[in-house]
Amino acid sequence: MDLKLADKTALVTAASRGLGFATAKAFAGEGARVFLCSRSGPALLHAVERIQNETGNALVYGIVADVSLSADIEELFAQIQAVVPGIDILINNAGGPPAGAFDGVDDELWQRAFSLSLMSVVRLTRLSLPHMRQQMWGRIVNFTSSSVKQPIENLILSNTFRTGVAGLSKSLALELAKYNILVNVLGPGKISTDRVAELDKIRAVHTGESEQQVKHQSESAIPLGRYGSPEEFAAMAVFLGSAANGYITGQTVLVDGGLVRSL
Ligand SMILES: NC(=O)c1ccc[n+]([C@@H]2O[C@H](COP(=O)([O-])OP(=O)(O)OC[C@H]3O[C@@H](n4cnc5c(N)ncnc54)[C@H](OP(=O)(O)O)[C@@H]3O)[C@@H](O)[C@H]2O)c1
Repeated sequence: MDLKLADKTALVTAASRGLGFATAKAFAGEGARVFLCSRSGPALLHAVERIQNETGNALVYGIVADVSLSADIEELFAQIQAVVPGIDILINNAGGPPAGAFDGVDDELWQRAFSLSLMSVVRLTRLSLPHMRQQMWGRIVNFTSSSVKQPIENLILSNTFRTGVAGLSKSLALELAKYNILVNVLGPGKISTDRVAELDKIRAVHTGESEQQVKHQSESAIPLGRYGSPEEFAAMAVFLGSAANGYITGQTVLVDGGLVRSL
């Protein structure tokens, strides 16, 4: 399938590793110009070099930015617009908020998770839209979690703000359809990244089991019997963000190996 990405520019946020990295690499592999951001300069530089070397695409740029900060997002767009007029494809990703149940979360943590998980999507979308509207073409894919369909124990912050992103995305899909801007949500179930290893570790500490036992239990609840790979997740992100997707908008798609049982 031709994804028709050769003349497109994508921004993938939070992309020095994990799902963001795999997605940025997949876009670069399809010939798109790709901007990546994350907070750590050295990690980002390493990611950019790896993508350039492994895909042979030199049009890959890293810009240090913390997506929970409004000023960083403005600076990110200023730097992008020094190179191109705007971005065609926005992949909204961010680090996950800390684990915890309701009683362990104070106002400060609620505010931080709001900025990280919801306001980042609002701000990045706002700055992407003028160019997309002007050219009557755009794709926005918001990474969330399978928790948008089924809340996950001990992840109160994620459960709360990711459903906010789902509501925002559906509303935007309706508002932006007339500009041929398609907005979708992509929810990972359990994809093998540092974040999932960290959550397994936290659970092992809670339950007194080994990390291996925790992982084994998680895998046995997944119909496909294993964690997914970042590449399997990225394949759907790139399709939804591409010109090959002409008619899917306002949807929440889970890449979860069948984990969530709801229709
Ligand atoms: N993997 C899964 O199965 C899974 C399941 C459900 C939900 N999710 C969610 O999907 C997202 C990505 O997950 P992942 O597994 O890829 O996580 P990960 O392996 O921990 O990678 C997180 C990436 O985000 C960057 N980052 C973190 N905070 C940032 C910030 N404030 N601004 C800019 N970049 C930031 C990190 O780079 P720096 O440290 O350099 O900033 C890193 O590149 C997370 O929100 C996670 O909670 C993942």
